[in-house]
Amino acid sequence: MRITTVGCGYLGAVYAASMASIGHEVLGLDVDQRKIDGLNEGIAPFHEPGFEKVLAEALASGRLRFSTDYSDAADYTAHVICVGTPQQIDGAGADLTYVHAAVDSLLPHLSDTAVVLGRSTVPVGTAASLRERLRAGGSNAPLAWNPEFLREGFAVKDTLHPDRIVYGLPEDPAEAARAREVLDEMYAPMLEVETPLVIGNYATAELVKVSANSFLATKISFINAVAEVCEATGADVSVIAEAIGLDDRIGPKFLRAGIGFGGGCLPKDIRAFMARAGELGVTEALGFLREVDHVNNRRRDHVVNMARKALGGSFTGKRVAVLGAAFKPDSDDTRQSPALYIASKISGRGADVVVTDPAANERVHAERPNLAIAEDAYAAAKDADLVLLLTEWTQFKELDPVALKEVVGTAHMIDGRNVLDPQQWRDAGWTYQSLGRP
Ligand code: UDX
Repeated sequence: MRITTVGCGYLGAVYAASMASIGHEVLGLDVDQRKIDGLNEGIAPFHEPGFEKVLAEALASGRLRFSTDYSDAADYTAHVICVGTPQQIDGAGADLTYVHAAVDSLLPHLSDTAVVLGRSTVPVGTAASLRERLRAGGSNAPLAWNPEFLREGFAVKDTLHPDRIVYGLPEDPAEAARAREVLDEMYAPMLEVETPLVIGNYATAELVKVSANSFLATKISFINAVAEVCEATGADVSVIAEAIGLDDRIGPKFLRAGIGFGGGCLPKDIRAFMARAGELGVTEALGFLREVDHVNNRRRDHVVNMARKALGGSFTGKRVAVLGAAFKPDSDDTRQSPALYIASKISGRGADVVVTDPAANERVHAERPNLAIAEDAYAAAKDADLVLLLTEWTQFKELDPVALKEVVGTAHMIDGRNVLDPQQWRDAGWTYQSLGRP
């Protein structure tokens, strides 16, 4: 199949290289010349384990190239929209500017056999309106929705070995048949190994994605809410998570209590879902998501308060080491990062904050110049009055409490991810606190 990806950000670049790696001819399109030049040279514009290897192999195979010239799309059949849908600057809903621009840029170049596929995360109703946009622009290309579910850090694996593939097909039977034919050919290697295929209409496919992310966010906020109750009672949230997770109706995943979820997806997707429910007149149906968002924000502020208390009631003149800035380990992404939120809040209140992150240091330096950066945990913790572990990188989980105690001013650790062994740290002479654990 000859495929274009429209948008070569995180989603599009990984998708383009992955689809080329399973034998398709792929053209990645983007308006950003620098990004395109870099990708053509095999340079990843973001940190993603395994991506540069797949990219290099796909480029070497001759089946993948990147371009800013949308007229090149004329020779391709399947056009996959992979652009971002950020939160609106002045609202909670999703900004569809890039999705509309993607369709408009493709329109003049769509051949008679072309099929347009949407992969971006969009508010329900978008696919139907994009179909109308294609028709109004003079194209009869069938449109289908085909949401992605990839996690940062596992993007290539999640693209090539998905838990499921979802098709949102058009109502018109001829259009649906043509879209299905193209999708089946694109995903033939995955379908052959019996990856579950789920088929619905446009609205169903759009809602599958936001429902999945909302459920994951709810699971995290649920366990974080339980952590709040644990803190009032002396119970241990990690033992509760283990016990309830053994019920296979609940399952053990996404029950790690801590400073909550961040990143480019979960926070924005639940807010966009609530905003869309409001437009549809079903605000109350998603009222619980407002609480999910509140619990999530409360945990960050709780850690700021814990830190203030640990420092004797004031941040002024105190030195605080922050271990981790990315929203999760194995990523350099700091979007909506709870770690960076806490570091900035504490710095804003007068503490001398030193941050270290194995992948995000440069990004933090560029985005938050008021925060000092250190090469590693030991440099960050030098003379610190308090150490906060906020992103659970392996190198932080494996820190030696005896060696770290040598460099700090005061041996006080707040473990925002509940990943250190309390006994081991206390035995080494630390005051150790975590979230929802006695
Ligand atoms: C998420 C979804 O997992 C993915 O399917 C979707 O396509 C995009 O959004 P991602 O944003 O890469 O992926 O991160 P994920 O691994 O889901 O973690 C999200 C956040 O939740 C992180 O900040 C993480 O630290 C936090 N988290 C996760 C918890 O606080 N506790 C948990 O138990 C799990």
